[in-house]
Amino acid sequence: MGKDVIIACDFASKADVMSFLDKFTEEKPYVKIGMELFYAAGPEIVREIKARGHKIFLDLKLCDIPNTVKKSMSVLSELDVDMTNLHAFGTKAMMEAAIEGLTRPDGTRPMLIAVTQLTSTSEERMKNDLLINESLDKVVMHYAKNAMESGLDGVVCSPLEAGKVHETCGEKFITVTPGVRFADGDVGDQVRITTPAKAKEIGSDYIVVGRPITQAEDPVAAYRRCVAEFVG
Ligand code: C5P
Repeated sequence: MGKDVIIACDFASKADVMSFLDKFTEEKPYVKIGMELFYAAGPEIVREIKARGHKIFLDLKLCDIPNTVKKSMSVLSELDVDMTNLHAFGTKAMMEAAIEGLTRPDGTRPMLIAVTQLTSTSEERMKNDLLINESLDKVVMHYAKNAMESGLDGVVCSPLEAGKVHETCGEKFITVTPGVRFADGDVGDQVRITTPAKAKEIGSDYIVVGRPITQAEDPVAAYRRCVAEFVG
C-alpha cells in the first residue's frame, strides 16, 4: 500500500483553498475536502481541484438509510473523487449499499473508508449518550470488522489505533489517520496525537494533516517535512 500525506483543506471559501494550493508549484498533494468547503463551494470545487491534478478524499461522512446512501454515493462516484467515507454506525446494510452505489458501470470505484467512533466521542459519552456499554476500543474494532465484511477498504482512526486495526482486519485494510503533529509543533485542539514518523512506525497508511501545514509560515516546507518523515 502506497503511503501518502493528505492535506486537510479546511477553508471556508474557494478563493482561500485555491490561493493555498497555488503555493504548490512542484508537487500535487492529496487533498481532503470536508463538509465546510463542500457546503460553501459545492461540487464544482471538487471538479476544479481534481482538474488541477490533485487526488481527492471527499470527507462527507454519510449516514442515512441504505437507499439514500447508495444514491448519494453514485453521485459522488461521478465526481471522480479518489476516496470518500461514511459512518460505520449506519450498519452493514448501509455500507453494502454504499459500495453498490459507488461502483461505476465499468466496475471501478473510489476507495471507501468508514468512521468508527469519532475521536471526539469519549467512552463516557458513548455510554451515557449512546447507551453503548462496551469499551471504546472494542466498539472501534467491531465497527472496523463490520466495514471490512461489507467490502470497504479501510477506516479513519487515531494513529494510535492503526496497529490494532491492522491486527484485527489485516494489513491490506487501510488506516487513514488524523491527529498528526510535528514533535516541535502546536497541538491545537487535538488530544490523542502522534508525529508523522511515529504514525509511519505504528502502521498508518495515510496521514491527514491540516493546520500543521495550512497554518504554517511556509506550507510547502511543512508538507515536505511531513512527506519526508512519513513516506521517507
Ligand atoms: O488541523 P488538523 O491537523 O487537526 O486537521 C485534522 C483534520 O482531520 C480535520 O479536517 C478534522 O476534521 C479531521 N478529523 C479529525 N479527527 C477525526 C476525523 C477527522 O481530526 N476523528
